[in-house]
Amino acid sequence: MKDGQPQEIKLADYQAPGYRTTTTQLHFDIHDGATVVTSELQIERQQEGADTLELAGQELELISVAVDGQELSGNEFALDDETLTLRDLGGSHTVLIKTRIHPEQNTALEGLYRSSSMYCTQCEAQGFRKITYYQDRPDVSSVFTTSITADSSAYPTLLSNGNLIDSKVQADGRRTVTWHDPHPKPSYLFALVAGDLASVEDTFVTASGCQVALQIFSEPHNIDQCGYAMEVLKRSMAWDEQRFGREYDLDVFMIVAVEDFNMGAMENKGLNIFNTSCVLASPDTATDAAYQRVEAVVAHEYFHNWSGNRVTCRDWFQLSLKEGFTVFRDAEFSSDMNSRAVKRIEDVSFLRSIQFAEDASPLAHAVRPQSYIEISNFYTTTIYEKGAEVVRMYHTLLGETAFRQGSDAYFARHDGSAATTDDFAAVMQEAGQLDLTQFKRWYDQAGTPALHVTESYAEGALTLVIQQSCPATPGQPEKLPFHMPVVFALLDATGQVLPVQELRVDCDAQIDRRDDNLLLHLREAETKVVFQGLTDKPVMSFLRGFSAPVKVSYPRPDSELGFLARHDLDGFVRWDALQSLWVKHFAGQALEGVELTRIVGDLADQAGHQLEHAEDMLLAATMLSLPEENYLFEQLAKFEVDSLIDARDSLMQTLADDHTDRWLQLYQLSQAPQPYQPDAFGMARRALANVAFSYLCRGCAAADLQGIVERHYQQADNLTDRRAALSQACRNDRLEVEFRSWLINDFYQRWQDQALVIDLWFSLQAQSPLTSIEDMRALQAHPQFDERNPNRVRSVCGAFGMYNHRRLHALDGSGYAFLRDVVAGLDRTNPQVAARICTPLTRWQRYDSERQQLMRSALEQLAERADLSKDLFEIVNKSLT
Ligand code: TRP
Ligand code: ZN
Repeated sequence: MKDGQPQEIKLADYQAPGYRTTTTQLHFDIHDGATVVTSELQIERQQEGADTLELAGQELELISVAVDGQELSGNEFALDDETLTLRDLGGSHTVLIKTRIHPEQNTALEGLYRSSSMYCTQCEAQGFRKITYYQDRPDVSSVFTTSITADSSAYPTLLSNGNLIDSKVQADGRRTVTWHDPHPKPSYLFALVAGDLASVEDTFVTASGCQVALQIFSEPHNIDQCGYAMEVLKRSMAWDEQRFGREYDLDVFMIVAVEDFNMGAMENKGLNIFNTSCVLASPDTATDAAYQRVEAVVAHEYFHNWSGNRVTCRDWFQLSLKEGFTVFRDAEFSSDMNSRAVKRIEDVSFLRSIQFAEDASPLAHAVRPQSYIEISNFYTTTIYEKGAEVVRMYHTLLGETAFRQGSDAYFARHDGSAATTDDFAAVMQEAGQLDLTQFKRWYDQAGTPALHVTESYAEGALTLVIQQSCPATPGQPEKLPFHMPVVFALLDATGQVLPVQELRVDCDAQIDRRDDNLLLHLREAETKVVFQGLTDKPVMSFLRGFSAPVKVSYPRPDSELGFLARHDLDGFVRWDALQSLWVKHFAGQALEGVELTRIVGDLADQAGHQLEHAEDMLLAATMLSLPEENYLFEQLAKFEVDSLIDARDSLMQTLADDHTDRWLQLYQLSQAPQPYQPDAFGMARRALANVAFSYLCRGCAAADLQGIVERHYQQADNLTDRRAALSQACRNDRLEVEFRSWLINDFYQRWQDQALVIDLWFSLQAQSPLTSIEDMRALQAHPQFDERNPNRVRSVCGAFGMYNHRRLHALDGSGYAFLRDVVAGLDRTNPQVAARICTPLTRWQRYDSERQQLMRSALEQLAERADLSKDLFEIVNKSLT
């Protein structure tokens, strides 16, 4: 560590600021190599007796400080590595601060930095302090006016938040523009961009009739890929008006696409900054998954304008207040735009594979954590995805109408202020007229709760006993029961739901009747539900829609799971029942009364008859895909990496061999009949065709394989299909080496100018078990590998750590050593990305003892390094305790 042990920040230590900064006037004088930032602040005493102003600042060169026009000498303020302190201030003042910064040398991509030909900023969570000394905390909101001066030919595009109020050219050919943002905001929402950018433009008329100019900027070579994002933006704006009653509030909304970005995108007020990967899309450069990601992220950032910007967070412990809510909102948007069932399945699959793993790891933390060392490390799947599940549970408990009332009340009551998760719970409690005291444990208790369900049937009565528990997590040995919504229904022998109004239910707990379902308010450690007067034993459709983020163990006949997989009308339960069967198979247990291969065959046949129904096809494609290794690692209590991968490969082979003709037929049938469209129908057809293609590539005669792959590759008019072919070239060892390298090279030659396509090209190779550590080094030595570009690092090193289980977990320790060295190297240039790339090592607890040993020693070697960033220090040390 650089400066001794880093400090823990604690929620319990929160104190409201003694001063606030009411207005902020910034001037950026941009020159090659150095930028001078002048900041004029109006500060106002907020608490009686306060007389000290603490301004955060890091890696800044302080030129001068003045208070009320008087420049201070060195002994009139205190300055250290992180803070500029002004004392004995008394009332209100004007503070003028000049700093010099060096964006060209900023490789951490926080604060003001350079990305290819432009300058841009990233201020969340604490990047603004790398621009100037400031009250860089979310509970201080200020009205910003920003002027930028730069060379007018190199940087004709000069942007900041709000509305453009002035633009003039100086005698020396430099230009100055001024932006004013009327909405007070915390510093983390500040943004600036300077570059030579192209744009696409459109307008949106809000429900109350205001015209909003929409602009998406990118470097000129990418501008023809911005059209889809613009379509999505307009849809998001209309949707937020309809579903949440939220209108946009400025004359202009801008998005800028940048190539070097630590995360997906950022919701800066009126000026969202995006990773190119979350905004650019065209048939040849974006897969269907990428189109959907663009849709989700454009919507997400736009929705933050209300859930995040108009109502922001009091402190960073409340991060999930904006992120959990906004992820819930973007998920609802995607569900309304596409298949609701499949969106839910994808989200649950991600939650189970990634968030459950985090919650079971040494880095487990609550949705509202109690402490952190580096806040950047807390932009986690727990804060985002589990946080969104918590919001979804409010929605389920309250129902749409009351939930909407709660959300309206939240925006009305907290508009323009900095709120807490307790504030959110309070509005929901009022709107739902429901006591949510116990529910709030979801914010405080880490770990994935488990439900154990037992059922028995006798003489027309079905008895269900539900027990809940939650495992110990770091710092939390004991847990209290949660209040959670458990949605379920009883199905008859044809798969029809037994009408809830006619059910006779005995239960001590509250049970609401909701449409076709029952909603149980589970609050106790054990709850019993009895259904009386049944004629036959029904089949329980349990946890419909995945109504709570829990693990379920529910011993029941395999035939019932097979029945649910075929017949349930709840898409999630259908998929989930099949997953349980796969998991049981991989746990080495024999299935009774069902055969996986028959279910798969039937699903494939059924899919072949649904070729006009996008939703059904997509669900079928999703169900026909074997669970990923990351999913299985989380679902299985015990496994050995290599044996599990072998078992998965061999089941894939069996399914491929058992149904060769079906796969061929389904493949041919489901080729999209029209030219590429990124719509539901086209996506569903391609999903199905590519699942069939991947089975076909295993099951077909050896002599046919190359022809099948080559045809798929050459005929593709889109990246989704081309990717499927490239993936075979990267990982199908039945293909001849010459052909494999021909395809890999040909792909590269054709797309080498498209960074995002080349990211995919790197990523598919890095994920492949055929790629050795030596090959990984070759990828890192490739002329297009750039360790300064986070997308490239993620596509090579991130993909290896996340997906190349065969090589990462090699028993000679070479995979772990590779990742360790990558992380150590990156930590010197970009700590945020280094800390993320390290994640796979922190999951050591779930592997066998030999691998645990190796993973821990890789972490120990990192911990011993002298100059760790705060980011990596926290991740490495917490995962070793
Ligand atoms: N608020 C952003 C979002 O979720 C997240 C984000 C973007 C971020 N860039 C970041 C978080 C850099 C930490 C650091 O929409
Ligand atoms: Zn967000």
